[in-house]
Amino acid sequence: MSVAKGDRGDPAEKERLEALLQESRRFPPPAAMRAAANAGDPKVYDAAARDLEGFWAEQAEALDWFKPWDKVLDWQSPWAKWFVGGQTNICHNCVDRHAASARRNKAAIIWEGEPGDQRILTYGQLQREVARFANGLKRLGVAKGDRVAIYLGMVPELAIAMLACARIGAPHSIVFGGFSADALADRINDAQAKVLVTADGAWRRGGVVPLKANADAALRACPTISKVVVVERVGAAAQAEMQAGRDITWEETVAGVSADCPCEKMDAEDMLFILYTSGTTGKPKGIVHTTGGYMTGVSTTHRLIFDIKDTDVYWCTADIGWVTGHSYIVYGPLANGATSLMYEGSPDHPDRGRFWSICEKYGVNILYTAPTSIRTFMRWGTDWPKRYDLSSLRLLGSVGEPINPEAWMWYHEHIGAGRCPIVDTWWQTETGMILITPLPALTTTKPGSATRPFPGIEAQVLDERGDPVGPGAGGYLVLTRPWPAMMRTIYGDSERYVRQYWSRYPGKYFTGDGAKVDEDGDFWLLGRVDDVMNVSGHRISTYEVESALVDHPGVAEAAVIGRTHDVKGQAIAAFVTLKEATKGSDALKGELREHVAHKIGPIARPDDIYFAAELPKTRSAKIMRRLLRDIAEGRALGDTTTLADPSVVQRLKEQYEEKEDA
Ligand code: WTA
Repeated sequence: MSVAKGDRGDPAEKERLEALLQESRRFPPPAAMRAAANAGDPKVYDAAARDLEGFWAEQAEALDWFKPWDKVLDWQSPWAKWFVGGQTNICHNCVDRHAASARRNKAAIIWEGEPGDQRILTYGQLQREVARFANGLKRLGVAKGDRVAIYLGMVPELAIAMLACARIGAPHSIVFGGFSADALADRINDAQAKVLVTADGAWRRGGVVPLKANADAALRACPTISKVVVVERVGAAAQAEMQAGRDITWEETVAGVSADCPCEKMDAEDMLFILYTSGTTGKPKGIVHTTGGYMTGVSTTHRLIFDIKDTDVYWCTADIGWVTGHSYIVYGPLANGATSLMYEGSPDHPDRGRFWSICEKYGVNILYTAPTSIRTFMRWGTDWPKRYDLSSLRLLGSVGEPINPEAWMWYHEHIGAGRCPIVDTWWQTETGMILITPLPALTTTKPGSATRPFPGIEAQVLDERGDPVGPGAGGYLVLTRPWPAMMRTIYGDSERYVRQYWSRYPGKYFTGDGAKVDEDGDFWLLGRVDDVMNVSGHRISTYEVESALVDHPGVAEAAVIGRTHDVKGQAIAAFVTLKEATKGSDALKGELREHVAHKIGPIARPDDIYFAAELPKTRSAKIMRRLLRDIAEGRALGDTTTLADPSVVQRLKEQYEEKEDA
């Protein structure tokens, strides 16, 4: 097992860490944490299991409702309704109720720009900004039920815009700023969005991501968009052009509008947002989340898992373009009246100490980040975090992919100084909230295990036939009871919702992840079991990348797989057969990689491209990805007996191995 790359130069350290891992160490919760913990009584598990509805009703009661619900749960599998008949507004709960309390002048959002600028919005200020932008949207013709697409970098306006949408009952559809024009257009069209909120550009490692130019290109194919609001973030360097009659700056949008904008009374089951995610087919799925259950789920998990206290500075390093940012930068923390830190840029700008300098500068108490980042920090070495005072940290979180024990240990020792519990949180865009996780004052953690289902959540690991597997054996992770923040459907495709998630094992939610449970009942996540890759914590489907490749005029056929990668978790390897008139060359490889980046976004740019005379297929013409993975990872080939022509894969392997030797 390879250990802490950052400590490569220190054999003693390496040996020590290796020993730790082989001991299968246990990390009991710090005793001091228990007394003051938000979840300090282990009975919470039994209580929630016994009375699921009672547990969630109690959580929901901690929030403001305009009208109480008649029924906690209406479950007609796979259709869930939570807090039926209740009326609320999540913007009211995240903003107004705190602005009207002693928290009025508490920082809601601390924002740090990549160039070093800073903006702090108190709850009072946030309330004003959100209400004004909400009125601005109304003035542009946005009404309850209209969809608003948001394509921004990590600027405060992103949080303001989403809360403003929630305030007036207009579901938002946020598209990650790293997606291309084509990807943006697909998402806008699927949601039939009326207004787009974007920026002239976004800062990234000192360079400019041309958001507006991308948006302009996308909008050539988006007939439903009538207005575009443009945040001026970058200025002249972005070279953004404004289209008269359609485009309006953020400043103009809020000019002269009143800050008086009452929160729309939303039914608990009214749609709050759509968020697109990759599935096993080419078309991204618009995951639909609704109001009351989502609000209850994310606020409860945030409060109990991160043990948030009123004085804490909490930092989730995700991008709001992904679900982690939705639930654990904006809605969960703000519903709890927390101070949520937002950072605009990359961890290595201006240098590799940026994250730690931010922790020191603001006295961050709780840090929530991804294993891919941790592995990157390991590579950069311990000197970077050592230069900063990280003593304010008291709790660490991990999300997005399985965390390998080496990374867990490094995080624990070098960031948490051995003192901070780590919560490894498993969940998905679809689940809306964290479902498998330690509770920091209650759970004994193990490096690499997400431990156990959150109170009220029931998970199982099943074999092909649907029988639970025994301890230690791998299988498919399913969820057997509904939870409040669960997705309600796929936007515009309820049939796919049923087929994708509820048909493999009728009555059970199919996660698409593999897992095993150990003797203690702790869960270990093993990665996706479908054709979804996890590249640096980003979900990308192999099919999407294949579609982008065959869209290139020189490509006849493509097969894409995720191969193991030390830092990214998975890297994208593409096997491509070319049309007869096209010759394979390094230049063409570069062109294909750029083509994919252009079609989907830089996050989907393949790491490796292999030209192949033929792709290995079964007799029923299915591409055998397993064998391609063997080749890309330099392993011996697995079983080839089901191939139509076993020599194809053998030739491919030889061809590739020659290249490796060369
Ligand atoms: C993976 C991100 C192991 C998993 C919140 C899941 C994880 C997919 C973990 C969802 C974890 C997320 N341990 N694997 N702690 N967290 N995953 O929709 O494969 O972007 O199905 O949501 O990420 O990715 P998504």
